[in-house]
Amino acid sequence: MTAPAQVSAPLAMLAELTHRCPLACPYCSNPLQLDRRSDELDTATWVRVFQEAAALGILQIHLSGGEPAARRDLVELVAGAARAGLYTNLITSGIGLDQARLAALAEAGLDHVQLSVQGIDEPSADAVAGLAGSHRRKRAFAAMTTALGLPLTVNVVLHRGNLAALEALVEEAITLGARRIELAHAQYYGWGLINRDALMPDRASVIAARTTLDRLRAATQGRIVIDYVPPDHFALYPKPCVNGWGQQSLNVTPRGRVLPCHAAETIPGLEFWTVAEHSLDVIWRNSPAFNAYRGEDWMVEPCRSCARKAIDFGGCRCQALALTGDARNTDPVCTLSPHHLRVEALADTPLTNTTLVMRGRSAQGVEALPHDEPLADRMSPACRDRP
Ligand code: SF4
Ligand code: FES
Repeated sequence: MTAPAQVSAPLAMLAELTHRCPLACPYCSNPLQLDRRSDELDTATWVRVFQEAAALGILQIHLSGGEPAARRDLVELVAGAARAGLYTNLITSGIGLDQARLAALAEAGLDHVQLSVQGIDEPSADAVAGLAGSHRRKRAFAAMTTALGLPLTVNVVLHRGNLAALEALVEEAITLGARRIELAHAQYYGWGLINRDALMPDRASVIAARTTLDRLRAATQGRIVIDYVPPDHFALYPKPCVNGWGQQSLNVTPRGRVLPCHAAETIPGLEFWTVAEHSLDVIWRNSPAFNAYRGEDWMVEPCRSCARKAIDFGGCRCQALALTGDARNTDPVCTLSPHHLRVEALADTPLTNTTLVMRGRSAQGVEALPHDEPLADRMSPACRDRP
């Protein structure tokens, strides 16, 4: 693994400030092995990393987790990022921030808020989040956010339990005062992979959702912007995951490991460097993990000789690993992959069993806790009652 002669600057950084979280969503993007609080970077180190990020050319920083509000120094961290000249986006569950703290964040320079929403009503949303009262608190948080004049985006992870409620989800986001809603299908690595049987929608539902989405976009034009991340398993070609490995973005974990994507630690054999050992600039250019799948030299057929390799970069390394056992392989979502039949088989497995149990990640960030309600009890009425 040698560093390419020319590596362009990244645009964005995801700062996973902590893996602690009051919620326990079954599709959480955090790793199965969560970083402990005692291992988290301290305030001064994060602020130094923000300065290094700006010097490297990064323009925006996503402050995420877990729940970033679990960090008592969140206001200092936002102030540090703003002082460095970064556009600051807080990705939050909305739990743990009261009026005074949110106002302090705005004062410190917070530019934008993304609020995760788990459903259209309290019973279904709280069941997925694994916390009673969470949806009510999110609604109050959204009201505080817009009252402060902060732009609000609502994030929704789509799955079998809420896909038929697209219209209600968009209406909920409008009611909350969001200018944008991101509807992204669950990704099946980590926690999502554990819960895939309970989360993955069937092909007919995905096709119907696409039609609904087109109608909703036309009907809500001027009121809200709808972003949609389609599900991988029903596509012809894979997504250009992270816009190319080591091309545009990086993640920093709570204990300071720098990753090319949030799931990179699932790939065995990669060597990750930490911000305690090296500057962000040195890591971005020279870390073995970043150089492992940069450019095209690592590609195998059919990607190596494919005209689309400059468009999708061979898809997702983590998905290639999860479904074929080798991260270098063509993402099997691609119809040209020799492993594609496995994806089709997964996508078309009849989903008649609605009593599957979803396992939520632990709210304490230590171990998995089973959600013991049958799936049907965790679905919104709109989904549960559809034919
Ligand atoms: Fe993309 Fe590789 Fe499939 Fe070509 S073969 S479309 S580069 S994933
Ligand atoms: Fe790791 Fe796609 S999530 S490369």
